[in-house]
Amino acid sequence: MKLLGISCGRRMGNSEILLREALMGAAESGTETEVLSLLDVDVKPCIGCKVCQAEITGKEYCVIKDDAVFVWNKIMDCDGLILSGPVYCLTPPGYLLVIRDRLFGSKSDVAWMMERKKLKEQGEKVFVDERCFKTRPGAFISVGGSVTPDWLSLGLSIFQTMTFSIQLEVVDQMMVMGTNIVKGQVLLDDAAMARARKLGYHVAEAMGKPGPEMKWRGDETGTCPVCHQNEITIKGKNPVQCPICGIYGELKIENGEIKVVFSEAEQKRSRLTLAGKMEHWNEYHPADPEKAWKLNQTSTMPPAKQAQYMNEITRKMAKYKADKPCTKP
Ligand SMILES: Cc1cc2nc3c(=O)[nH]c(=O)nc-3n(C[C@H](O)[C@H](O)[C@H](O)COP(=O)(O)O)c2cc1C
Repeated sequence: MKLLGISCGRRMGNSEILLREALMGAAESGTETEVLSLLDVDVKPCIGCKVCQAEITGKEYCVIKDDAVFVWNKIMDCDGLILSGPVYCLTPPGYLLVIRDRLFGSKSDVAWMMERKKLKEQGEKVFVDERCFKTRPGAFISVGGSVTPDWLSLGLSIFQTMTFSIQLEVVDQMMVMGTNIVKGQVLLDDAAMARARKLGYHVAEAMGKPGPEMKWRGDETGTCPVCHQNEITIKGKNPVQCPICGIYGELKIENGEIKVVFSEAEQKRSRLTLAGKMEHWNEYHPADPEKAWKLNQTSTMPPAKQAQYMNEITRKMAKYKADKPCTKP
């Protein structure tokens, strides 16, 4: 069993050092480990051609030939995953998100993969990677220069957007503040280094266990008990929403403390769960496409109207195609 650590920070920077410490912690119990620095791979942005998502004609992997397949195979082959990265402008670096978009959209969504597998069994030519069904534990390390968490606010939660499609069971996370831009400054922070080691140990401990036995080992539960993050969207009235999970909860004030209560039913429909992912599949593949389209419950055109709508789009698009060209460097 292999634990893969991915760093999206500088070579031998603070994120990579913390990651290596975590992997060393995991290795103590005999876990095999591997480190991948994203600065060593060349991955270009997704161009949204959707070839990888077209269920019937779907080609394996991608039309862009670069290191994305290498990263995909590394992640698919691992049995545990730790993501470590700096905070750039409040989130993990954009390059990580470029890789996320190439690999972790609906193409690798476990529920979509299950549905595609059914099509494959019926003889369709579709992309199915059996390794996607592996249950893996994982953890996140987010590192920032600021001494206040206010400037690292989206570091951990945006990591979740990288891993929910493959259903990574996140068992731990940590945020390290005050690392400035000096490479290795984190080595002055003994508590952070010790916590990273513990994080690696937590992931190693969960590896190989069935999903329900992979317990949350983080220091705080978080406002949302499913993703353990604190991002709550308030649209002026209750219920409020966890934007990571897409679930609704009720905001309450008890003894002067603000709490958000998420019902069991809502927690079960988080997009981090299979049920939540199936909701998304059904939205795009409704049982009655005509009815769902009329009720605005799907963006998938009903087959009987497709030719008509495509003609309408072509007609309306002519004006924009005739407009000035995009400015280029
Ligand atoms: C472009 C850029 C943006 C940054 N933005 C933030 C930020 O929003 N919040 C923060 O706390 N630190 C920020 N930092 C500081 C880094 O997160 C910090 O120096 C970190 O330790 C670098 O990690 P590394 O050594 O693994 O590369 C930024 C650094 C750079 C280069």
